[in-house]
Amino acid sequence: MRTFIYFSSSARTSGNWDDLMKAGRMDIVCNVIIHSFSLSHQKREDVELHLVFYGMPDPPKHIVISTKEYLSGRSQDDKEKLTISKKDIAGFIKKMLYKYREGEKTEVFAGCFIEKKNLYAVLDELKEQGKKIFLLDGDGQDIREVSNEDIKNGAFLLGDHDGLPRKEIKRLKQECEVVSVGNKTYFASQVVTIVNNEIDRRES
Ligand SMILES: C[S@@+](CC[C@H](N)C(=O)[O-])C[C@H]1O[C@@H](n2cnc3c(N)ncnc32)[C@H](O)[C@@H]1O
Repeated sequence: MRTFIYFSSSARTSGNWDDLMKAGRMDIVCNVIIHSFSLSHQKREDVELHLVFYGMPDPPKHIVISTKEYLSGRSQDDKEKLTISKKDIAGFIKKMLYKYREGEKTEVFAGCFIEKKNLYAVLDELKEQGKKIFLLDGDGQDIREVSNEDIKNGAFLLGDHDGLPRKEIKRLKQECEVVSVGNKTYFASQVVTIVNNEIDRRES
């Protein structure tokens, strides 16, 4: 299972917004979702995406989207609702946020959950599942030098347009392996594509 964690300090934590840009750059979230799960003419079946939002009004929020679960389809209805097209994604995120219930981990669609959980708790849970956390950062070790075994068990953490918060970076750099996809700064969604491609090439 490929695992990505997208962290945003500004992404809204309620569903009452329409303008993607003003909702803490939900346009970037949409692109990250598309590039996590989409190939030309097919969806990736082995991806789990964690979205961690620290924006107003009720941070933190943790949304998990797992394609394995939803593509296996508990119901045709769920499958239809989860069609990944650019047009539908903003509505999908809004619905996930609207369905949040205090004190609960709510499954909104098959394999798609929302709960209140902070970044470190998300990372700890992934570590307990045997994942190795990689912090994506231009200053890290070249991803091409990471072993196949580590890549296979990797969970890749990346930031939004502002990057990961400066005050967290120091701690994250101590707790995670830091990996780079090159010496240019890419959009978050481009980084997801590059990591997916790196894994694809090793699997082929
Ligand atoms: C648009 S970039 C953030 C730019 C922000 N101004 C900064 O300096 O962090 C979004 C995220 O993509 C990841 N990223 C961008 N370029 C990268 C690179 N060359 N190697 C690894 N990760 C990268 C980082 O996790 C970053 O937080």
